[in-house]
Amino acid sequence: MQAKDLVQLAEQFGSPLYVYDAAKIQSQYKRLTNAFSKVDKLRINYAMKALSNVAILQLLRECGSCLDAVSIQEVQLGLHAGYAPDQIFFTPNGVSLEEIEEVSAMGVQINIDNLSILEQFGAKHPNVPVCIRINPHVMAGGNANISVGHIDSKFGISVHQLPHLVRIVENTKMHIVGIHMHTGSDILDIEVFLYAAEILFDAARSFKELEFLDFGSGFKVPYKKDDIETDIEELGRKLSKRFNAFCKEYGKDLTLIFEPGKFLVSEAGHFLAKVNVVKQTTSTVFAGIDSGFNHLIRPMFYGSQHCIENISNPKGKERFYSVVGYICETDTFANNRRISEIKESDVLCFKNAGAYCFSMASNYNSRYKPAEVLWLNGEGHLIRAQESFEDLLKNQIPLPVTATVS
Ligand SMILES: Cc1ncc(COP(=O)(O)O)c(C=O)c1O
Repeated sequence: MQAKDLVQLAEQFGSPLYVYDAAKIQSQYKRLTNAFSKVDKLRINYAMKALSNVAILQLLRECGSCLDAVSIQEVQLGLHAGYAPDQIFFTPNGVSLEEIEEVSAMGVQINIDNLSILEQFGAKHPNVPVCIRINPHVMAGGNANISVGHIDSKFGISVHQLPHLVRIVENTKMHIVGIHMHTGSDILDIEVFLYAAEILFDAARSFKELEFLDFGSGFKVPYKKDDIETDIEELGRKLSKRFNAFCKEYGKDLTLIFEPGKFLVSEAGHFLAKVNVVKQTTSTVFAGIDSGFNHLIRPMFYGSQHCIENISNPKGKERFYSVVGYICETDTFANNRRISEIKESDVLCFKNAGAYCFSMASNYNSRYKPAEVLWLNGEGHLIRAQESFEDLLKNQIPLPVTATVS
């Protein structure tokens, strides 16, 4: 899709607006499966926390994807989008035993990431096949907020606790059908990932009933021109070979699973916002937009750098701007960025806005969440309407008039 299509969509649907390019999601899915074409049994569980609009889930289901869900509500959304229970994995962190039991009763594969719940679940439901999340303590991720492999991480069962884990499995006679790891987001060094995979293979040797190995995700995508990204093709070549050799040694054709979020949807997303005001101060030119971190929190939350283009004036002379939002706190999308000259009412496009953008949006400052549009076959399809005042009031219960009189 082109900049002129985005300008037209902002005119048609208003701003701020999220737009997703279906073709990009489809091509990323193909790229990943092609990279692992040498593996007989490959399964992709889309990490729906990245972007959980039902239309996106449907699109990925058509591609052949399964789902990775982290809450019972995500599981329900997945079922609503047409996934069968056995096409969904539940990989939560720190949720209650009751929630895990409820999801398991729906026929969804559960993944347990701590010994306490594992023991309780195994004692009550020894016949339910379970996957366990191992923490290999390998730091493959980028930002500290999205790294999950360090020794004090709350994620997964430490690989150093393997003997304890095996004892629980033997005592409860539960069935471990899979092991899982997720080393964190933004993997740059494939060798580090492969090293973590070796730790997973080692752990796998302790379990005799495995059906799959889940290598999580964390693939880095480019955020700007010439940016580094995870070399999926190289990872595919190296890991497929190693995985196939491990299956031979294990004596069974296991399924290789990934659960990518960002890789599948990040680059497909564009966030469009209109410039409310251009404000020159003594040192800076601010471009203040009709949105804020309530709609796109990543820059403020973990310092992520989204490319910003002025699609209303793409060929204009470049100047330096600080792009800020309207939230009444520090609300900075970009400091001192070179952007084509901005006038009030121009539409700015934030790239890589598919993953962890709308799905982290809130109503802070009592603003509506924006609409979402899917660009499919050369046309924009509204897949979520912008919220309205009724949505803000929904579920709020005013005090009865008498209670406010003292
Ligand atoms: C367990 C797990 N799997 C998969 C993902 C998806 O990661 P990414 O979006 O980097 O592909 C995450 C991200 O937080 C995760 O925690």
